Amino acid sequence: MFVIEGKAKIVVENAFYNPRMRFCRDLDMLVFSVMGRHKILDALSATGVRGIRAILEADCEASFNDVNPKAVKTIKKNLEMNGIEAEIFCMDASILSRMKKFEHVDIDPFGSPANFIESACTHTKFLSVTATDLEALCCKSSAGLRKYSAFVLKTDVPHEIGLRTLLGFIARTALRFDKAVYPLICWVKEHYYRVHVVMKKSSSEVMKTIEKIGYIAFCKTCFSKKILKFGDNAEICHCGDKMVLIGPLWLGELKDVDFIQKMIQRSERKIRDFLLKIQKEIDYPLAYSLPKICSHISKPVPSTSKFVEKLKENGFIASSVHYCGYFVKTDADIKEIIKVLST
Ligand SMILES: C[S@@+](CC[C@H](N)C(=O)[O-])C[C@H]1O[C@@H](n2cnc3c(N)ncnc32)[C@H](O)[C@@H]1O
Ligand SMILES: [Zn+2]
Repeated sequence: MFVIEGKAKIVVENAFYNPRMRFCRDLDMLVFSVMGRHKILDALSATGVRGIRAILEADCEASFNDVNPKAVKTIKKNLEMNGIEAEIFCMDASILSRMKKFEHVDIDPFGSPANFIESACTHTKFLSVTATDLEALCCKSSAGLRKYSAFVLKTDVPHEIGLRTLLGFIARTALRFDKAVYPLICWVKEHYYRVHVVMKKSSSEVMKTIEKIGYIAFCKTCFSKKILKFGDNAEICHCGDKMVLIGPLWLGELKDVDFIQKMIQRSERKIRDFLLKIQKEIDYPLAYSLPKICSHISKPVPSTSKFVEKLKENGFIASSVHYCGYFVKTDADIKEIIKVLST
């Protein structure tokens, strides 16, 4: 049985293929093409569909790898079928990316990418990562500590925390190699997170990355949140409850504005709509769930877009988020949010 995806025609026997990830791969092809011509290691290839599409659609060179010999046979067939000659490895992705230098490493595992990140950071310039272990990243403290060395708990905005736990982990790992990290685009969709970053080995730029890592202090009672940098003191919440420290997390930007603009220029409608939502989102780390806050203060839930406008009229920065219709991002604190909700 064949599957046609983008410009690739592939067989999927004996290798994992998830048609639900097609939108992700469609977006990836735009990401890869805006990165410019380069060589990518599709480090956990399965059928090889992502690397094959990278060659056919994004003008990349690609190498393929899967630890499962059956998947490697499928990759070989798929390369032949698409008239492609390329290197194929059958190794643990961590060993391969540590041994050999690739300009770009793509990590697309079952579940957690945590164990692949350190090796991938060794040589690469571009790093692309998928995570589907969302509980460990956004709400389950023991799993978060085990896999990502970060304390997480369930807040009103789990995916904002989750994406920042993942990026925080990537950034802290890259720092061990004296690399600064700059996100190009990151998104949350359905059951997964996807992040694309560029890394620069530069002793003068690593400080910028260190400054973008810290904590979010969170109040479980009233959903108040505060940004805390390393060395800052935790405060008692205005409501009298204690605030809990979540992190370390990435507190910096989630996108490169010029990069997204170039993607938008090359995109087709469905993808463009998604990219426009990402573009509209302010780069600020604190988000709030309107229904949760409104339920706490017994007020009706306003339309997100109207509330965003109201916050802006009151002098705050504010936006919706790309991954949920009723979250807002804003630099207004919880007291100010409640005041605006009450007017
Ligand atoms: C989620 S699938 C990859 C899907 C593929 N990237 C795509 O876009 O369709 C994960 C693949 O990683 C492979 N794998 C698991 N552990 C690995 C390891 N340590 N090194 C290399 N490959 C591994 C599995 O055999 C499986 O084929
Ligand atoms: Zn509080």
